[in-house]
Amino acid sequence: MSFFRQSGFVGESQSCQNPEDLKRLIDIIHQELIPNLKIESIEPYNPVVVHQVPEPWQILGTGNYAGVLYHSDYSDLVVKVYAPGRLGWKEELEVYRRLGSHPAFSECFYAENNFLVLKRLYGITLYDSMNKGLKIPRRVIEDIDLALEYASRRGLHPHDVHGRNVMMLKGRGIVVDVSDFLKQEPCLAWKDLKKAYYWLYLPLFSWHRLRLPYFVLDLVRTTYRLFRRFVDKRVKIKSR
Ligand SMILES: Nc1ncnc2c1ncn2[C@@H]1O[C@H](COP(=O)(O)OP(=O)(O)OP(=O)(O)O)[C@@H](O)[C@H]1O
Ligand SMILES: [Mg+2]
Repeated sequence: MSFFRQSGFVGESQSCQNPEDLKRLIDIIHQELIPNLKIESIEPYNPVVVHQVPEPWQILGTGNYAGVLYHSDYSDLVVKVYAPGRLGWKEELEVYRRLGSHPAFSECFYAENNFLVLKRLYGITLYDSMNKGLKIPRRVIEDIDLALEYASRRGLHPHDVHGRNVMMLKGRGIVVDVSDFLKQEPCLAWKDLKKAYYWLYLPLFSWHRLRLPYFVLDLVRTTYRLFRRFVDKRVKIKSR
């Protein structure tokens, strides 16, 4: 595949073996997915709600900006569709352009107004792992650290790296969401997650197959967001 930025193709890629498949998928996205997908961002700090998905598309996950789906005939690719009113697909495209090809990240094969076609990552998010009681080895955390260092060397600023944005696959760590990596303001999410991993998870939880229900995980997520906002405000006031 060649480098057609204007038409939305974003680069030479080994992983997308067949450019014809990609073209067919893009036609299907235009003709079947976009007109029949109903997706809404109700609250900015909670995942978008997908009201309707046309057959045979399957939803893989949702974030606060977008829904991620795949088509059963093209299951190695996913389509990340931003909800109406949620901006950011152009920035995400630029992040993928800078990242190039790296085993700990997805790749972007095509992008246009509000959607991106990405390489599918087959891992499970750390958030879902906690729900299923799966053991999260140290190696996963170390791999993600290395991946984030790589991103920084590429002129990016790892941002919003939380439990729903990182995955593990066969004991290795991968980063599933890089959409905020152009933002320059500091973000402590990954540092805080690592503290929780080393100080709480490893000594207390890693010995049991503890399955945390989603309402508990969401409570932790909301409490963390409010705590971080409170602490950051105090630091700002003190430094004035
Ligand atoms: N390339 C991928 N392969 C497989 N699953 C994916 C992929 N990209 C995203 N997902 C799934 O979809 C979910 C939502 O995607 P993503 O985190 O990119 O959305 P977002 O709206 O940008 O999230 P955020 O709220 O963190 O900004 C992820 O948590 C993950 O479960
Ligand atoms: Mg996300």
